[in-house]
Amino acid sequence: MKDKIFLILITIFSVFFLVAAESVTTTTNLGDPVIGKEIYESQGCGACHRINGLGGTIGPDLSKIFEKSDDYIRESIFEPGKVIAKGYKNVMPSYKGVLTESDVDNIIVYFKSLNKKKKSIKKNK
Ligand code: HEC
Repeated sequence: MKDKIFLILITIFSVFFLVAAESVTTTTNLGDPVIGKEIYESQGCGACHRINGLGGTIGPDLSKIFEKSDDYIRESIFEPGKVIAKGYKNVMPSYKGVLTESDVDNIIVYFKSLNKKKKSIKKNK
């Protein structure tokens, strides 16, 4: 009987530990690429921007925007008129007051995740 209770306690404990460990890793992340992708899609960024061949052509292709710094991407979203990408017009609306800092964190993490995917595809080959 005592052994059984001990086993049950151990099980409950390990489940609790796993859940706790999971929540620590997700809360220490700067942003969530899945949420970032959702924001990108719901805000209509894809009407003007292409990612891996999908989307509009009014703005630059963002498939390789991960090569730019976080600050550059953040500024491009909040103050699009400050630095105008070569060959494009200053038609992107500012998302100041529309998106929060953490929305933009999520978008940046989404852009960076496009890089990881490419690397892992190369590795698998
Ligand atoms: C009405 C069309 C339009 C929409 C909608 C739009 N953009 Fe843009 N975006 C542009 C254009 C045009 C440029 C290039 C001119 C400039 O740098 O401002 C640009 C530039 C950028 C750049 C810099 C690209 C580079 O190569 O330097 C980023 C990053 C960016 N946009 C992200 C976004 C995100 C994220 C959204 C959605 C929240 C968005 N854009 C919505 C038109 C748009």
